[in-house]
Amino acid sequence: MTDHGHIPVLVDEVLEALAPRPGDVVVDCTLGRGGHALALGQAVGRDGLVIGIDRDRQNLAHASDRLQTAGIPFVGIHDSFARVAHHIEDSGRPANIVLADLGVSSNQLDDPDRGFGFHDEAPLDMRLDQDVPGDVSSLLADISESELAELIRTYGEDPMAGAIARKVALERQTRPITTTGQLSQLVRDAYGPRARSSRLHPATRTFMALRIALNDEIAALETLLDRIGRACEMTGSEGWLSPGARVGLISFHSLEDRPVKQAFAELDRRGLADRLTRGAVRPTEAEMQANPRSRSAKFRAIRRTAAGN
Ligand SMILES: C[S@@+](CC[C@H](N)C(=O)[O-])C[C@H]1O[C@@H](n2cnc3c(N)ncnc32)[C@H](O)[C@@H]1O
Repeated sequence: MTDHGHIPVLVDEVLEALAPRPGDVVVDCTLGRGGHALALGQAVGRDGLVIGIDRDRQNLAHASDRLQTAGIPFVGIHDSFARVAHHIEDSGRPANIVLADLGVSSNQLDDPDRGFGFHDEAPLDMRLDQDVPGDVSSLLADISESELAELIRTYGEDPMAGAIARKVALERQTRPITTTGQLSQLVRDAYGPRARSSRLHPATRTFMALRIALNDEIAALETLLDRIGRACEMTGSEGWLSPGARVGLISFHSLEDRPVKQAFAELDRRGLADRLTRGAVRPTEAEMQANPRSRSAKFRAIRRTAAGN
């Protein structure tokens, strides 16, 4: 772990594929603690610009300090990257480079007050944007048992989804589910003796599923991919993506990687973009050893064709 609370993944691979040049405008859709933005910002230099977006005010503030201290021209935006096109069109400076490193940062996962981790006893929150009302505790109070089972099955791919939803439904008849420890124990109970043979902590998939659902993470990604696609369809220098712009996405599970792969393949097929990566780029063994959380990362990148449509 670095002082910044998060180790950026695949930094060399991102720099190689996205090839930042002095003067480029970089849009980091998931600024996080600023690791990727700093590396890209150093390459684009003082004539360039880094625009960083994040839903998490704490991460945005931390990364903004970090970039400003490094003397990198920087603008921070507190919003979802689903609205990236709107923000960049407003700025009047189309992007040469766009990066999205999906999911959550290590400091978010490790902060017991945020409620992302199942190892701590903490309020069951999991909001990426703490200005928005509605945490996981209230989601669990309101959702029907069958919808909860579906949610855990879809976003967590957990074969025990039905049994977990049943435990939750029974528990909330007597008391509300308000803490990470309480939910973690319910999942363990649903697994029963199977918990011992499970490679992952039994609550891993349920927590991930609830986080993805609460924060509407797949819908945000689909909107981002749609906006990238539409920008590639525009003529010449219209829109928020410069002709020749490089776009990279780092995903951490198949629900994210699948739509990215399909969207990039479709743009390539239509002659609107070229693929800059062959298949998905994975971390090296050395990176995975140094940073086990990089293990599931997959990076794909494209370049908008220079002439536009
Ligand atoms: C994996 S971290 C990014 C780490 C970053 N690349 C770094 O080097 O520090 C993901 C970040 O994206 C943010 N995030 C997730 N979904 C988002 C969305 N839809 N819009 C904006 N930010 C989002 C999270 O709050 C988190 O800070």
